[in-house]
Amino acid sequence: MRDKVRMVRKGRIVEVADAGPTETLLDYLRLRERACGTKEGCNEGDCGACTVAVGEVGPDGRITYRPVNSCIQFVGQVDGKEVVTVEDLAEGGTLHPVQQAMVDHHGSQCGFCTPGIVMSLFALYHDEARGTAPTRTTIDEWLAGNLCRCTGYRPIVDAARAVLAGPPDDQFTRAEAETAGLLQYLNDRSDLFVGNQDAFFAAPRSIASLAALYERHPDATLVAGATDVGLWITKQFRPVAKLIHLGRVEDLDRIEDVGNAVIIGATATYEKALDALDAIDQDIASLIKRIGSRQVRASGTVGGNVANGSPIGDTPPVLIALGATLELVRGETGRAIPIEDFFIDYGKQDRRPGEFVAGLLVPKLALGQVFRAYKISKRFDQDISAVLGAFLFTIENGVIRDARVAFGGMAGVPKRATTVEAKLIGAVPAQASSWHDAFEAMAEDFTPLTDMRASAHYRLETARALLAKALVEAAGASSERTRLIGRRTAAETEVAHVGAGE
Ligand SMILES: Cc1cc2nc3c(=O)[nH]c(=O)nc-3n(C[C@H](O)[C@H](O)[C@H](O)COP(=O)(O)OP(=O)(O)OC[C@H]3O[C@@H](n4cnc5c(N)ncnc54)[C@H](O)[C@@H]3O)c2cc1C
Ligand code: FES
Ligand code: FES
Repeated sequence: MRDKVRMVRKGRIVEVADAGPTETLLDYLRLRERACGTKEGCNEGDCGACTVAVGEVGPDGRITYRPVNSCIQFVGQVDGKEVVTVEDLAEGGTLHPVQQAMVDHHGSQCGFCTPGIVMSLFALYHDEARGTAPTRTTIDEWLAGNLCRCTGYRPIVDAARAVLAGPPDDQFTRAEAETAGLLQYLNDRSDLFVGNQDAFFAAPRSIASLAALYERHPDATLVAGATDVGLWITKQFRPVAKLIHLGRVEDLDRIEDVGNAVIIGATATYEKALDALDAIDQDIASLIKRIGSRQVRASGTVGGNVANGSPIGDTPPVLIALGATLELVRGETGRAIPIEDFFIDYGKQDRRPGEFVAGLLVPKLALGQVFRAYKISKRFDQDISAVLGAFLFTIENGVIRDARVAFGGMAGVPKRATTVEAKLIGAVPAQASSWHDAFEAMAEDFTPLTDMRASAHYRLETARALLAKALVEAAGASSERTRLIGRRTAAETEVAHVGAGE
């Protein structure tokens, strides 16, 4: 058992013996280190002013940097990782290439957002997959979680394009082997437990020690990426004395192809799960790329999205429509349930004291199945859904033989539209008149609420429109997708930007 959080800062190992269970990384940096270049803007993961880069070493000895919102990351979560802030980039009197590009292209005015933007671009600068000359779409996607209210994005994008034209070459690439050695040393097998039995931050290393610890402390709060739990602390000021972080548990983040299904471990981040879910259907990947921002997707997990039980979480309707199974573990016993049964009522899930989500079994599409999912929100990026519809049709000879239809934002829980499903059996996607009853039935399945995101009327009509879109697309080839609502291909986005006189 280890009782200190350890991380790499500026090429050295730093130990934090008294990390509070919910002390944020931002507070640690600003209040303890006095590293005040990292800014606090919204304190809820939206603006990106607090972005830092978190480095992790892979089995190949290479370090991957991810942009993280330090305002909603607890300091214990970066145990075993490297933390890079804007202060660490310049060498002597020479700015880092990303910083120099921002100066050269006039990418900063008041400067409040600038450290966060620089850190997002630093992570992209080091991203192996970016290639040279990344597209505008890629740059936009990496900057979607960094809000600038005064410069405007054109000069920032110009700076990004200039600095990303070549491979990374900075003090971090030169020190990579040495830093990797430190990170490998930190990656020990021991459980982490900072505090006492009444108040602690714990990060078990194995499923068995997690299960034992949570059984002993069923009143503890579990945290995976903290993109929900972080806000409980910074916005709702909830008292959380005992925190169990799942991020160090070996294999809990596994992604495994098991033939006709994919296992997504509970702590697999959106970023990690993306390719496996994309392989099931491209709509799932399109949807995931619209969850929060790069920062949110680098920390947030599919397991957290499900366990949270929110009626407006983006993945539950998709997983319900696909017929996924949820694996739960308590102590030495496990059980598996259809994911739809997990969501009992608003704020109430089928999870017993001391029980945690271990993973999901997500079936792949069978022959003759067509899947579609659409997210409707006020903004394209960084916004919570008003309505999300997910559809799985099994079609034989042009006729629907089976249908699974699930919505988010339409009830107190993510929920199947069972009456609609029943009316779809025997319908012909190519004949709109054959769906009429299913359309009408939407009002039997849902009585949605009016709130700040949408009115009840809008929600009901939108749910019907999404059903129509899915059916129209199902009537064509399964790969043909319409552009009625909420979809833009990468190529179309490029054209739109060029057309805007960029
Ligand atoms: C700026 C911003 C934008 C966002 N945008 C979106 C969006 O577009 N769509 C969307 O759906 N969500 C969005 N979210 C919400 C959030 O990112 C997701 O719900 C995310 O999936 C939560 O995962 P996490 O790992 O961060 O969960 P955490 O915050 O760590 O945990 C969430 C909940 O699940 C519990 N929990 C976590 N793991 C387990 C487990 N294995 N077993 C049992 N309980 C567990 C926790 O105790 C907590 O109750 C956004 C959040 C932010 C801050
Ligand atoms: S302060 Fe706004 S995202 Fe952290
Ligand atoms: S430079 Fe002022 S907010 Fe971006």
